[in-house]
Formats: sequence, structure tokens, C-alpha cells
Amino acid sequence: MSDNKGPIGVFDSGYGGLTVFKEIVKELPEYDYLYLGDNARVPYGTRSFETVYKYTWECVQHLFQMGCRLVILACNTASAKALRSIQQNDIPNLPDLRRVLGVIRPTAEVVGELTKTRNVGVLATQGTVSSDSYVLEIGKFFPDIHVVQEACPMWVPLVENNEFNSEGADYFLQKNLKSVLGKAPNIDALILACTHYPLLIQKLKQFLPEHVQVISQGELVAASLKDYLQRHPEIEALCSKGGNSEFYTTESTESFNEKAAIFLGHKVLSKHLPL
Ligand code: DGL
Repeated sequence: MSDNKGPIGVFDSGYGGLTVFKEIVKELPEYDYLYLGDNARVPYGTRSFETVYKYTWECVQHLFQMGCRLVILACNTASAKALRSIQQNDIPNLPDLRRVLGVIRPTAEVVGELTKTRNVGVLATQGTVSSDSYVLEIGKFFPDIHVVQEACPMWVPLVENNEFNSEGADYFLQKNLKSVLGKAPNIDALILACTHYPLLIQKLKQFLPEHVQVISQGELVAASLKDYLQRHPEIEALCSKGGNSEFYTTESTESFNEKAAIFLGHKVLSKHLPL
């Protein structure tokens, strides 16, 4: 039976998913993990539904082939544009039990507890914003919350290129914050709805009034995964427990190792996954 078990897959278009991976491992250290960054094809945030679905499903299938029975799309853009098709059309056709989960629902489910004014801002990639996924998901759980969105197309490149402490970053952060706060009165919570953005959190807090809370997803997704595994013992039984993590990238391993260290705060040795 143990042959059927595999690591929990964590997927992102690049490094951003490492902010979620880090919190999942902190919450559930006993499992094995396999992180895959599609660094060769990042960014996903500017691409069409068809392309994001194609790239995401390809990577998920690689994770399945490497033994994962459960995969977390630690990327909002992939969760917004590919998750539904994968869950509804692809997973039911597989010969064995596999599951793919995203990061939008675990975030939307708890937003109601984090806002008093019921005015919430979503900061995300253009792809996530145009999918309206957050507006729809939050609306299902908390119809009284007014959600405004702001696409921040420069933020992912600033993070990917390790330029997030520069003056250039300050300009773009302030520009997008001013814009989102101008879209509704009394916003008291801003969701970082892109897994790259938590690296900007200190800067963002500096530029925001104190009453505006910045919500980062990592801990929310980790708590939701813990709860999911408790509610689904049939999936939990398929997740191997050895406390090991492996990292794969579709691009250069040297640059993955260097940049992943910034996200995780420790060294990693990644392997190359040819597409
Ligand atoms: N990290 C991805 C997200 O959460 C976005 C990065 C990209 O544009 O590929 O949406």
C-alpha cells in the first residue's frame, strides 16, 4: 500500500508559491513535499485562460507522475483560471484517486472575520482580477462585503528580479495602493491575492494607514489544508510522511536556488524538470 503514497505537490508559476509552501510545512511538517516552479514560463498573470490552463495542467500531470496524489495550486492566477477545469473535467477521468486544491477559496472563506467596514480590496495579477474569482467567491460566503480589485502588473517582476526594496518598487507600490484605496470608502482589509506579494508586506505596511490590515494567504491556506486532511482521511492516507521536501524548476536550477533562498530564508538544492 505504501507504494501508493506520495508527497504533497505545491505548484506555482515561479517562486511566489514558496510563501505558501513555507507556511504549509510549518503547519504540517510531518508530510513529504514536492515544490514545482514553472520559472521557464512565468509570468502567468498576463496570459489567457487557455494558456494558463494548458501550462498548469501540464505541470500538475508532472507532479502526478512524480507520485503526488494531492496538489496545491499555490498560485492565484492558476487557481483562478485553471482549477475549475482541472477539478471538473480532468480529475474525474483519472484512473486513480488524485486531488487538486487552490488558494482562493481558503482565503475567501475567512475574509468576513477580517473586515469590520465590509469594504475589502484585492491586490492581484491582471489575470486574477479579470477572472473576478475573488468577487464571486467572497460573494458566496459574505454577500454583504463590497470587494474592489486592483491589478498590480509590476509587482511580480519586482519580486522575481529581487528589486522589491528599490525606489522603483516604492513608486509602483504607492501608485497601486493609492488607486485601490480610492475605489471604495473605508477599506480596512487588503488581500495579497498573489503569492509573490508577501515579500512586499513590510513596504506595503509602511505606505498604508494603520487601520488597513494586509492579509497574506500562506497561513490561511495552511490552516485550510490541515482541516481538509482531517475531513478527508482517504486523501490523507495517500500522503507520505517523511518530513522531506524536494524542489523542481522548469528553468535554471542555479537561479532557482539563489532566489528560493530569499523566499525561504534557507538554502535549497533544486532539480531541473524539462518540459
Ligand atoms: N504567483 C502568482 C499568483 O499567485 C502570479 C505570478 C505570475 O504572474 O505568474 O497569481
